[in-house]
Amino acid sequence: MFDLNIYKEKLSTNYIGQIVQYYPKLDSTNTKAWELISKNTPNGTVIITDNQLKGRGRQSNKWISIPGKSLTFSIIIYPNALPNQTNLYSLIAGLAITDCAVENGIQAKLKWPNDILINDKKAGGILCESKISAGVIQSMVIGIGLNVNAKTTELPETLHKNATSLMIESGTQYKIEILLANILNYLEHRIQNEDKTNSPILDWEKRCAHLSQKVTFHSGNEIVTGIFKGLSSNGQAIISKDGEEVIFDSGEII
Ligand code: BTN
Repeated sequence: MFDLNIYKEKLSTNYIGQIVQYYPKLDSTNTKAWELISKNTPNGTVIITDNQLKGRGRQSNKWISIPGKSLTFSIIIYPNALPNQTNLYSLIAGLAITDCAVENGIQAKLKWPNDILINDKKAGGILCESKISAGVIQSMVIGIGLNVNAKTTELPETLHKNATSLMIESGTQYKIEILLANILNYLEHRIQNEDKTNSPILDWEKRCAHLSQKVTFHSGNEIVTGIFKGLSSNGQAIISKDGEEVIFDSGEII
């Protein structure tokens, strides 16, 4: 059961996470977030659950959270920014999660666009959804799933080889409430400083697990193998193939 008092004590934001909607059980925090947006929920509202039953992942995948042992939440923001900034928000969310992991002594890395890796295994993912109208991003839901205190045997068997949790990698148990507050503190700080010299692109590239490495990239019907050169100023992936640079807005590194 999520303890709001522990969470509030650690939260130092101005708006992100100041309003929290906690549900012991929910189909999907992202789906709930969109329902709340249609009722004009304030900027920065966070939806969290202990037990997500129908978690949604990127590329129509399912996302499985281990009840009580995962951090499963969504943040509602109204960015009023240009649509080409969409990718930047999910990159910033990935950075905030790794900021928090690094603070806890875990060298978490990022896989484009926004997988959280620890020792080359996936510990978390981000599903960023947005509604664009009149040429601006009106509303955005940043959904985050992070495996925190799950043991290997508690993760789905098919994922044992490729998935992990903070506890598996560090041997330490974490308080979900403290992690959530710290991630949100970092996230708000990074959103507020986005235009300053400390570019999220450079920070992201420093934490990238595959910078300058050969990757196989899957986007729509296209499969491209090349060197991952880094990110464009809008957070697109730049792959170098046969001396040419190819830019991808979305896709998956296999
Ligand atoms: C991925 O495919 O890697 C992204 C996974 C995102 C899962 C999170 S869990 C909280 C939020 N609610 C959802 O239904 N999905 C996201």
